[in-house]
Amino acid sequence: MELPGDVVDLANLVSSMTYRRIEEIVSGKPRELYEASMHLVRAGGKRLRPLALVLASKMYGLSPEISSWAAAAVEILHNFTLIHDDIIDRDEYRRGVPTVHKVWGEGLAIVAGDLLFAKSYEALLRLLDYGLNYEKVLSAIRELTWAATTVAEGQAMDIMFESRETVTVDEYIEMVRKKTAALFKSSVVIGAIIAGAPDEDIAKLADFAFNIGIAFQIRDDELGLVADEKVLGKPKYSDIREGKKTILVIYALERASEEQRKVIMSALGNTKASREELEKAARVLIELGALDYSNKLAEDFIRRGIEALDSTHPRDLRSRETLKQLAYYVTRRSY
Ligand code: IPE
Ligand code: IPE
Ligand code: MG
Ligand code: MG
Repeated sequence: MELPGDVVDLANLVSSMTYRRIEEIVSGKPRELYEASMHLVRAGGKRLRPLALVLASKMYGLSPEISSWAAAAVEILHNFTLIHDDIIDRDEYRRGVPTVHKVWGEGLAIVAGDLLFAKSYEALLRLLDYGLNYEKVLSAIRELTWAATTVAEGQAMDIMFESRETVTVDEYIEMVRKKTAALFKSSVVIGAIIAGAPDEDIAKLADFAFNIGIAFQIRDDELGLVADEKVLGKPKYSDIREGKKTILVIYALERASEEQRKVIMSALGNTKASREELEKAARVLIELGALDYSNKLAEDFIRRGIEALDSTHPRDLRSRETLKQLAYYVTRRSY
């Protein structure tokens, strides 16, 4: 990961702790179901939500030993959404490996997602074994339920936008707030809740993570256009092929000439589009300045997020600093 040096050690620690927790929770029979469920978990991923959660907990004095169970919960939920997302988006690669439905078929992939959804709650309930009181665990469960509900709403909007001729920037932001930022927000909020952070700080952290989450998705849209596919671990141009109203497409369609519009529309939502047609459409999006716009927009959200983070009053200022580094990384990442 391209995280700054002082973050890397903690990121690696949280990543391996989270993985061990998930392995413990997601095991059983039939073997195929559990293999399918662990496939993407084993392939890795950045595990940024666990890291954000653990840092929010550390800010208020709770150790990773305990918060890592909640970290496992949000990462399990995240993996559930990815398995279903790859079916929805018809994507064949993620984290450098074939997607779950490619290997096990759609039926088992759907059930693997369902299993992970339930397992995410089981992971949260483990907090009771560490002496966390019912009230905290209940609040965490409420927050996770909100996240799962909101991600579903966002994914539905993402799907429905495909068949809409125009989508505004405001509608896009509402959609990504739900499909992506909601789980970042809940990760940070759950971390703060279980550590006993004061309500004012929880609200500020929620504001922080929402903004960072939106910037994160904007960067994800950009990477779908400009990333090195090998580094990214998932296919480029899939958004264009599936007719996704990414921030780049929305911006470009508002400004395209007749000619440029034709090039974009011949590839957008065209599942039979050739690599050449997709590349051509991508070039037009870039020509129209979509990347300059999206970069600025993402930076804006990061700035707003940092402002909220700076207004918190944590016990451990170093953890807040690390969380800030993580936020800056969101727009600089190359995968
Ligand atoms: C991918 O999330 C899905 C989005 C919300 C854009 P990540 O980019 O965090 O995926 P992994 O977990 O690192 O693979
Ligand atoms: C991200 O969806 C949000 C969820 C998975 C819930 P995307 O479809 O934009 O993410 P990638 O690019 O496939 O990772
Ligand atoms: Mg997808
Ligand atoms: Mg999707």
